[in-house]
Amino acid sequence: MRVLVCGGAGFIGSAFVRLRVREQGDQITVLDKLTYAGRRENLQEVESEIRFVQGAIEDPLAVADAVAGCDAIVNFAAETHVDRSIADPQGFIVTNMQGTHVLLEAARERGLRYLQVSTDEVYGSIEQGSFSESSPLEPSSPYSATKSGADLLVSSYFHTYGLEALICRGSNNYGPHQYPEKLIPLMILNALAGDRLPVYGDGRNVRNWLFVEDFARGIGHALLHGAPGEVYNCGGPDECDNLTVVGRIIELTAADPRLVEFVTDRPGHDRRYSLSSEKLQRLGWRAQEGFEEGLARTVQWYRENEWWWGPIRSGAYREYYERHYGRALKA
Ligand code: NAD
Ligand code: TYD
Repeated sequence: MRVLVCGGAGFIGSAFVRLRVREQGDQITVLDKLTYAGRRENLQEVESEIRFVQGAIEDPLAVADAVAGCDAIVNFAAETHVDRSIADPQGFIVTNMQGTHVLLEAARERGLRYLQVSTDEVYGSIEQGSFSESSPLEPSSPYSATKSGADLLVSSYFHTYGLEALICRGSNNYGPHQYPEKLIPLMILNALAGDRLPVYGDGRNVRNWLFVEDFARGIGHALLHGAPGEVYNCGGPDECDNLTVVGRIIELTAADPRLVEFVTDRPGHDRRYSLSSEKLQRLGWRAQEGFEEGLARTVQWYRENEWWWGPIRSGAYREYYERHYGRALKA
């Protein structure tokens, strides 16, 4: 397949590109704006085998250039961090909604298959049981609201224009190359450095953890075997609350448990996410990595790849960190 992968220099997009090039021999073009979260280094293993275009998905000219010769579009490009969306939602509306619209138009004009990468956060929080694809959308944060808006637009292009559009909604991902603003890499790097471990609220919020390569496989599966107009949930095999995750990271890094610090809760903080992936499993997908082993692999990767995270921790990330956590974590 010849696939345009938007946001392919990010955490999950680059895992998808590496997998498709290595295992499927796809011809890949990556379109990525290279925001703070996008890094060419994430693609270095396959650099000579792909075409890379730097540009924004909300820019129709950049999209027209990148999409030439492709049969399908897979859209990972997004502003993705809930805390940043709470501080300033504007960029989330432009990229996640306007950008998706530009890509849908490009797919419609050319008759391409289109897969939107989405999230379990569009369903909101669930106390018991798991969300299915027919659960109502009840997003809590500006991030999840813009992802929900994009999903609805994608569905409308299937119903209105007959676009071969699908949606794949993943649960919380973790693994190598994740930007350290998200819980797991933030806690790993802080634990390795002996810095405080900022836990929001009571630390009992539950997430459904999915190893990044399993999500990349799930997306590939939905793209090839899924039916147009359908949504496919792709959830991890294990659920775990944040304090348990942090406790496990402390063990794996031999950090001091007294580094844990309870800080002010995130506004609108969803209590629990849980996805039923039966529909994707009926197409033959299964998560291969359990949380215990996946987390140990992830800690090991961060230990061995300071070249990757060192420049992030000393750059603009520091300013973000100070702004977001500074006061709460002052001694
Ligand atoms: P990420 O923040 O690591 O990467 C996002 C990528 O998109 C970066 O390479 C960035 O440069 C690029 N990008 C941002 N704005 C752009 C724009 N306007 N034009 C072009 N490129 C742009 O994100 P991620 O964690 O890899 O998430 C990828 C997708 O998966 C997102 O759509 C996200 O909503 C979804 N998702 C993420 C998770 C998770 O746990 N991280 C779970 C489920 C779904
Ligand atoms: P996060 O990685 O931001 O993913 P999401 O909000 O999209 O699920 O957060 C995962 C969980 O960890 C969530 O319950 C918020 C919590 N959390 C903390 O307790 N401390 C932190 O510093 C961060 C970033 C997250």
